[in-house]
Amino acid sequence: MLILIVDDEETQRKMLQGFLEKQGYKVLTASGGNEALHIFESAPVQLVLIDHRMEDMNGDEVLEKMRAASPLVRAIMITAYGNVTTAVKVMQLGADDFMEKPVDLMELLEKIRGIEQSFDVQAESTIITESLEQAELPISIIGSSTPMQELLSLVYRVAPTEWSALIRGETGTGKELVARLIHLMGLRKNGPFVEVNCAAIPENLFESELFGHEKGAFTGASSRRRGRFELASGGTLFLDEVGELPLQLQAKLLRTLQEKKVTRVGSETDIKVDARVLTATNKDLKQMVAEGTFREDLFFRLNVLELTVPPLRERRDDIMELIEFFLQKYAVKPTSFSNEAMAQLVKYRFPGNVRELEHLIQRLVTLVRGNRIEVSDLPPEIRESRSRGGHLSDRLAEVEKEMLITALEQHNWVQTRAAEALGISERVLRYKMNKAGIKK
Ligand SMILES: Nc1ncnc2c1ncn2[C@@H]1O[C@H](COP(=O)(O)OP(=O)(O)OP(=O)(O)O)[C@@H](O)[C@H]1O
Ligand SMILES: [Mg+2]
Repeated sequence: MLILIVDDEETQRKMLQGFLEKQGYKVLTASGGNEALHIFESAPVQLVLIDHRMEDMNGDEVLEKMRAASPLVRAIMITAYGNVTTAVKVMQLGADDFMEKPVDLMELLEKIRGIEQSFDVQAESTIITESLEQAELPISIIGSSTPMQELLSLVYRVAPTEWSALIRGETGTGKELVARLIHLMGLRKNGPFVEVNCAAIPENLFESELFGHEKGAFTGASSRRRGRFELASGGTLFLDEVGELPLQLQAKLLRTLQEKKVTRVGSETDIKVDARVLTATNKDLKQMVAEGTFREDLFFRLNVLELTVPPLRERRDDIMELIEFFLQKYAVKPTSFSNEAMAQLVKYRFPGNVRELEHLIQRLVTLVRGNRIEVSDLPPEIRESRSRGGHLSDRLAEVEKEMLITALEQHNWVQTRAAEALGISERVLRYKMNKAGIKK
């Protein structure tokens, strides 16, 4: 990570630079705002440490200009001791954090590491979000919540490799969408994307479906047929519900993955295949391995990379945007939700995840008389859903999130103060904010 230190005091600059370089960071320095902006134009600076009080320009002014040029830049503002009003302003301006002088170096290092960790996620997920927005990719994925941003950044890293990846997630969370995204972001994007739903194929047809058959190989095989593996050559083979694959075929699949060859049913000759394999499941394959219903060697082969699509109830921040998206897609006339109806939806647990939400919107827009959907239009299970019931841990997480947000708002999002009010350390607060996906 490239860090720019902006401070008009030479000793302070030198001290911070020496310390950070020892920690392995690349560091540039500037003795004032104008010099800083000049450097910023020509170097890919990812983080700036800015002294708030400088002679030629205030730190917040410098930051504002940097943000205008590069919205993703991260910043820690360094303020005089006790200067909290400035600190609040600084946060409002978009500094990610602030520190008071004299700077505690270990604390600084901890803050930088925290920023560093989130940095990649943001950069990587931005690339995907932008590609999707610029309609380069023929699919849409809503995912501004922290868990989805993390998933998208993982997709970005997984896509350009040739490894197999296992996509896990409850029903309707968007596993197939993620598989398509990996394909479209990968090296084989111009090749075919071939899907096999392992739950939908009768057991006796599995082998022929995957590997193909020769004419007369079995009753009903009236002509030669290429299997999905062959069809996916040069592209991606997506095995959905891979947990449903019968044991005997698991062995054949493993052999194909190892040798990159298939044999059509009723044939003796091997055919070379070159397909990247992505799999998805809502089952616990590890558990199945323990129970002996899924081969361990195949599991390791498929699970080189693992992605988990979070259930909708763990990313409620996405619900409103998804509703908007599905309204656009399905409503024939402008339709909106009353605040109460919206609130009820955001609270609901959505056991069927995004698919359930999608179907719900589809139904509502066809049934609603006016152009406003009220609570009374919602199906009873949603109308009556309170956060009551469900798992204890979910309820506790909800209460905790609410308390965190309240404390942060009461203290103008100054984390030190909010943490104090909650009786926890700032580090624990940041950890909990991260986990609950709380952003200002
Ligand atoms: N983040 C998202 N943004 C927009 N649409 C989504 C998103 N996630 C899922 N969908 C939509 O929800 C529906 C279900 O998604 P998908 O089929 O990918 O889920 P799945 O996890 O494969 O489900 P299943 O476990 O039932 O196979 C699809 O119509 C998909 O387009
Ligand atoms: Mg699916």
